[in-house]
Amino acid sequence: MDKFMIVGGRRLFGSVKAECAKNAVLPLFAAAVLTDEPVFLRGAPPIADALCMAQILRELGAEAEFTAEGVAVRSADAHLHTISSALTRELRSSVFMLGALLTRFHRACIAYPGGCDIGLRPIDLHLSALKRLGVSITEREGYIFCECGRLRGAEIQLDFPSVGATENAMLAAVMAEGETRIGGAAKEPEIVDLQNFLNRMGAKVKGAGTDTVRIEGVSRLHGADFRPSGDRIEAGTFLIAAALCGGEAEVTGVRPEKLASLLHKLRENGCKIHTKNDKIRVESSGRLKSNRRIETMPFPGFPTDLQAQATALNCTCEGCSLIVENLFETRFKYVPELQKMGADIVVRGRNAFVRGVPRLHGASVTAGDLRGGAALVLAALGAEGASEVLDLSHIDRGYYNFAGKLKNLGADIRRVRT
Ligand code: UD1
Repeated sequence: MDKFMIVGGRRLFGSVKAECAKNAVLPLFAAAVLTDEPVFLRGAPPIADALCMAQILRELGAEAEFTAEGVAVRSADAHLHTISSALTRELRSSVFMLGALLTRFHRACIAYPGGCDIGLRPIDLHLSALKRLGVSITEREGYIFCECGRLRGAEIQLDFPSVGATENAMLAAVMAEGETRIGGAAKEPEIVDLQNFLNRMGAKVKGAGTDTVRIEGVSRLHGADFRPSGDRIEAGTFLIAAALCGGEAEVTGVRPEKLASLLHKLRENGCKIHTKNDKIRVESSGRLKSNRRIETMPFPGFPTDLQAQATALNCTCEGCSLIVENLFETRFKYVPELQKMGADIVVRGRNAFVRGVPRLHGASVTAGDLRGGAALVLAALGAEGASEVLDLSHIDRGYYNFAGKLKNLGADIRRVRT
């Protein structure tokens, strides 16, 4: 298992380009099963979650190959509809395969999906949306068996704007008979990517990015070459890194409106933010002020996937902050690791109270989940002295060349094989 060795205290300067968004790319692997023709996901990075989706496609009989330009998928030979529990437990996005496999084969069988250990993460909303489209579902011994005739369009109302359930419903409705309306849909930008990709394949989907997605079923989809949009969470992570370490850094490849809630918080901290087209620059000097309150919300609210990084930032700000996690029940598991570095944080249920200390000190910490792991890296970059961040398997799921990119900004970080 690899680890990062970090010496804190370097200010960050320079420019970094965001990769294609992990959360945009993953559902597109599932969408690629909807056609016999080749699909190219241009720019998709070889992060571990994408490698795992590619492995799932291969298990179904499809081809998926990573090249320097992106991922080439060919599903003509896909013939299986069951995904082994070893793979489904690897990552939560395996659940997207349900909607796509039902469209293609009218049956699908997967084990309960895994992913980061950040809460209960049920899939009831996915399953009830599929039922509305005519799928019958049985659950036995940790497996979900789904079957349908031709899927039929329906009115679906989600009780909560779940990103995954919205996307799964889109994948199942795209070739259903008649029209589907998904009300209470999630509005995350990655859903717009899925809509654009499906439409590039010949689908008729509109409304993504609003709370109602409308889909007119088509009888056939064709191949497509598509570049997913930039990763707003990766971009946000680098912006917070520069704010925390001090310096001036620019992130390119993400439209600022997708990070409006974070940029507002960074301004509150006292950072200067400049935006132009798909470039965001942050300038940070001196000790920053705490955010009084950060509360995670569905888009366009503050993203839960930046909560841990924002908490790391507030650890050394002047004043106190309250961080409220509304999306996932146990997303403060990284806090004891920050405490090893001298952070003053009290967690009560979904709330974390952070009292800013002048500085953190280096320590040996373990990354237990993707974004919590990124937060530990940022804290170590700003801390006094040397740190090691152990177990990079979670960080590798969502960040491509994380150490290399931080190093280019001037950070003292090395990846070491242990
Ligand atoms: C997606 C993102 C993840 C992000 C999350 C919230 C991908 C691949 N992952 O995850 O990075 O943190 O959105 O922005 O896009 N819920 C239910 N029942 C369901 C589905 C969800 O109760 O059937 C609940 C969840 O437990 C959670 C909330 O709804 O409390 C939001 O989950 P959801 O939007 O579905 O997140 P994911 O799609 O899993």
